[in-house]
Amino acid sequence: MAGYMPTQAASDWAQSRTEPVPIQHVGNASGSVNGNLLGDKQRVLWYCRGYKINPSVEGRKCWMMPALRKHFANWKANPRRWEITYILSRLKGFSLVAFHSLDSYRLKKYREKLMIPVVEAEYVNILFDPEFQNSVAQVKDISCLDVARLANMWNLARLVGPGIFVEVGTYKGGTALHICNAIEHRDADFYCFDPFEKGGFEKIGDQDKCFKPSDFTDTRYEDVVNLLSSKPKAKVIQGFFPAAAENLNLRDIAFCHLDVDTYEATKDSLEFLAPRMARRGLIILDDMGHRETPGVNTAVTEFLAAHPSFLFIPMFPVQAVLLPKSLW
Ligand SMILES: C[S@@+](CC[C@H](N)C(=O)[O-])C[C@H]1O[C@@H](n2cnc3c(N)ncnc32)[C@H](O)[C@@H]1O
Repeated sequence: MAGYMPTQAASDWAQSRTEPVPIQHVGNASGSVNGNLLGDKQRVLWYCRGYKINPSVEGRKCWMMPALRKHFANWKANPRRWEITYILSRLKGFSLVAFHSLDSYRLKKYREKLMIPVVEAEYVNILFDPEFQNSVAQVKDISCLDVARLANMWNLARLVGPGIFVEVGTYKGGTALHICNAIEHRDADFYCFDPFEKGGFEKIGDQDKCFKPSDFTDTRYEDVVNLLSSKPKAKVIQGFFPAAAENLNLRDIAFCHLDVDTYEATKDSLEFLAPRMARRGLIILDDMGHRETPGVNTAVTEFLAAHPSFLFIPMFPVQAVLLPKSLW
């Protein structure tokens, strides 16, 4: 087991990545390999290591050549090119660049070493499931989650018992659409809550230092309604949870994705959700253990102390599941 666990530094770093370190060219410039987004084993491996693939990123080419060529052209065009003072100043410049490149190379190698191995992707069937791949392709630019978390969510959404599906913290609708895709075959109502452009956070406490009230406001209620318009069971509700849910009479919650980043919102949401859970229902907590969201950890710790009937299961990379024990 220990062999599969990433070091804290590695998982922190994986979280902070927004694009892959392109060690080799994978796929074409549009990010697809034979029309299949994750068809390439290497690409899947990078997904599993917590990267968000940015299809526009080309593979590693020899990035030094164009730089050297440019330097040579500048040197040739310079009338002082044979003056000793000029040559010495250029040499100094080159040695600084060389040291810097060496440092970047060492850092890159060190990071690669930290990242290996995280998961053996060949046996993670979901990554090769075309339905999952299509859903990831649809949401990858509008979700904050990496593929590992989207995969957890996909599996768990299909595992729970009957009841309604809820998301608290929808932002641009990426994970909401992903949940709807996962439960396409079920006849379940889906409610998602977010203040959208009126957002982003109602209360920001001492532990929520990474956030400010106007974060996550670059989204629009209408856009998310349009995004989910092909999902007849989806309802988009604008407002802060749980107040926005007070009149909806939500009950028998089979699945809730709770992704609100901050202490008060997590705490109030959990208190609201706990008595409304269905048999074989669960809550997925996002950002559990994330270094930028200590407020979520505190809220969950306090909730567990007050509700020993809930079981807490951490998941890689920064998620957790809360289960009402008596209902499973
Ligand atoms: C990290 S974003 C959600 C990302 C989204 N789940 C995805 O990856 O597709 C967090 C969102 O939670 C929203 N939020 C914060 N407090 C909230 C509350 N009390 N009720 C509903 N949404 C809230 C913010 O406005 C923000 O849009």
